[in-house]
Amino acid sequence: MRVLVIGSGAREHALLLALQRDPQVTGLAIAPGNAGTARIAEQHAVDVTSSAEVVALARAVRADLVVIGPEVPLVLGVADAVRAAGIVCFGPSRDAARIEGSKAFAKDVMAAAGVRTATSEIVDSPAHLDAALDRFGPPAGDAAWVVKDDRLAAGKGVVVTPDRDVARAHAAGLLETGHPVLLESYLDGPEVSLFCVVDGKTVVPLLPAQDFKRVGVGDAGPNTGGMGAYAPLPWLPDDVYRDVVGTIVEPVAAEMVARGSSFSGLLYVGLAITAKGPAVVEFNCRFGDPETQAVLALLESPLGQLLYAAGTGALADFGELRWRDGAAVTVVLAAENYPGRPRVGDVITGSEADGVLHAGTARRDDGAIVSSGGRVLSVVGIGDDLSAARARAYDIIGSIRLPGSHFRSDIALLAAQGKIRV
Ligand code: GLY
Repeated sequence: MRVLVIGSGAREHALLLALQRDPQVTGLAIAPGNAGTARIAEQHAVDVTSSAEVVALARAVRADLVVIGPEVPLVLGVADAVRAAGIVCFGPSRDAARIEGSKAFAKDVMAAAGVRTATSEIVDSPAHLDAALDRFGPPAGDAAWVVKDDRLAAGKGVVVTPDRDVARAHAAGLLETGHPVLLESYLDGPEVSLFCVVDGKTVVPLLPAQDFKRVGVGDAGPNTGGMGAYAPLPWLPDDVYRDVVGTIVEPVAAEMVARGSSFSGLLYVGLAITAKGPAVVEFNCRFGDPETQAVLALLESPLGQLLYAAGTGALADFGELRWRDGAAVTVVLAAENYPGRPRVGDVITGSEADGVLHAGTARRDDGAIVSSGGRVLSVVGIGDDLSAARARAYDIIGSIRLPGSHFRSDIALLAAQGKIRV
């Protein structure tokens, strides 16, 4: 099986590495990729938001399966075009990708499927902002205002704050540029990212993971695309996880079928485990980054065959997934100033070691690997438990040099210390 992966992040690097371990995968191509993925797959420079270019490439590399990583091509309907060309695709249709692309659509599906989620309100005019903020606050205890950009914003469009002025400023800034704002009630409790492979009807959950969205140690500072992750979650009881599949994911998949927007691909369920039980924070229509780097490091089942089964509606026959024992931790190395405008073009050393996945990297004409984006690398440590996996990840990151770069030193720390309780 020849597989074409679309995307350029460490998530796509992790997908390639897991696909490479599948004995039925005989060829790998990626577009546009990065300096790390170029070492393990044929690399092609195409505009991944152009259906015509992706289909032409899939034909040129004789792909049996196309795996679309990022949300933007999915929301634009690139998966529909690949399927229309007669090529198996892992990724939802444009209609189904609205579960991520339109927060209003996601809320509607959840209401119809009877799924617990935050209450929310769209504000589309500055004149209505203050009254809406009052309806969602002032928050009590540890609670906070949750203000979201109603568009795709690579994880950076959300502000969660107990400070009304900060919440108001974020919302007013978005409204000034003509973008509606979503206000949500605050869901307390630890967050879980549960990735489910779905072929329309059948749901196959992967190991649950947790990511770290804020830039600084102790969850300080602004939100990012994700600064680290770990899997599995020793603090999450198995029955909660099974219950989420039965009471949230399967009803949502069934509701999508009922609406004629059947979801085939990776349904990412972002949950908060609140005092009243699990509640949905968000759905995404693709693998999460950086959780994928940790989750796929532990997968023993053949990923190419799994994604092909999803793309052909054959998941019911796939059987149980197999996982290696132990834990995986991924830590993101970010460029100076990220999540603001990152400094780029600096030479990186130590990035070719095992366990280093590339994201914002490029190879210069002289052969040097240089930074080219905000999240530059993801390092992945695997170990018998979370402490061992953390130690390995921080060992690897300690051997990498990138001027001005930063990373969080507390990824998976509380979980390794047994300090997360539900
Ligand atoms: N880790 C957050 C995301 O992928 O959206």
